[in-house]
Amino acid sequence: MSSPQIECDGIVAMLDQIRQRGHSDHTVFEDWVDLMLYALQRRDDPYRDIVDRYRDRADMDQPDGQRSGDLFSKAFGQLQDRMAATDADVLGSVYEEYGMGSDAFGQHFTLHSVCEMLVELTDVVDESRDNQRPTITDPACGSGRMLLMAGRKQPEALFVGQDKDPLCAKMTALNCCFFNLDAYVIQGDSLTVEYQRAWRTSFSSLGGTVRELDEDEVAALRDAMTGAEETPPRSDTDDAAGQSESSPSIPPSTLPDGEQASLLAFDGDR
Ligand SMILES: C[S@@+](CC[C@H](N)C(=O)[O-])C[C@H]1O[C@@H](n2cnc3c(N)ncnc32)[C@H](O)[C@@H]1O
Repeated sequence: MSSPQIECDGIVAMLDQIRQRGHSDHTVFEDWVDLMLYALQRRDDPYRDIVDRYRDRADMDQPDGQRSGDLFSKAFGQLQDRMAATDADVLGSVYEEYGMGSDAFGQHFTLHSVCEMLVELTDVVDESRDNQRPTITDPACGSGRMLLMAGRKQPEALFVGQDKDPLCAKMTALNCCFFNLDAYVIQGDSLTVEYQRAWRTSFSSLGGTVRELDEDEVAALRDAMTGAEETPPRSDTDDAAGQSESSPSIPPSTLPDGEQASLLAFDGDR
């Protein structure tokens, strides 16, 4: 399916409304991403901490439905609608439209149409070697859209995304959860092989789930990915994101029972 133009003005306008109440644009966007990520993980305490930061006098004077918490929720609702309509990386488009991209980090995401073409050209549907599960990696994943596009063609693969920018890593974790992909998402530098944080998203027939890995799991993941274990992941080529390779020996998912996070987890009543 070809991605239509991603229109996200309504979402950007709501985030901007919050910003105009005296917050920086970066804080507003990061808090929105964190709220979604915490909601999907059912992590109520850090979720409430963020919401509480917006409960100042000016905000509480707003009419019902117009408080910052309401606007964050509505922005998430619209994000869901746009994703359903486009099957594309709306979150990354909001990030760019809202002016979050850093020139210094080269944060200009690949156009959806180009991602689709690259996925065709790199033929990620290629049969995996030795009947192992194929792994598709993007070591500079941005919002993860290359993985999402590859996921359309090969949804059963294991996806690995890495970005040194914390916000990009979180967006990719969210996107992999939204699009119900089995993935590891690493916040860390691909060149120096430093891993700061990581998330595991898992496919489920009820919708994707996401969980942040603990310190030991992050270390084990790094060992597996960098070859400290016996079956390191191997790239077929060095330059293209979204490449197919044999499955690394990655720690299995340890999602607790019942940790099913649907897109409806983020509601306005919290
Ligand atoms: C041009 S964007 C591409 C994003 C995505 N692959 C796409 O096609 O839309 C490059 C991304 O690489 C990240 N990046 C730059 N240097 C990196 C490094 N050494 N390790 C990990 N990520 C890096 C940036 O933060 C940015 O999000």
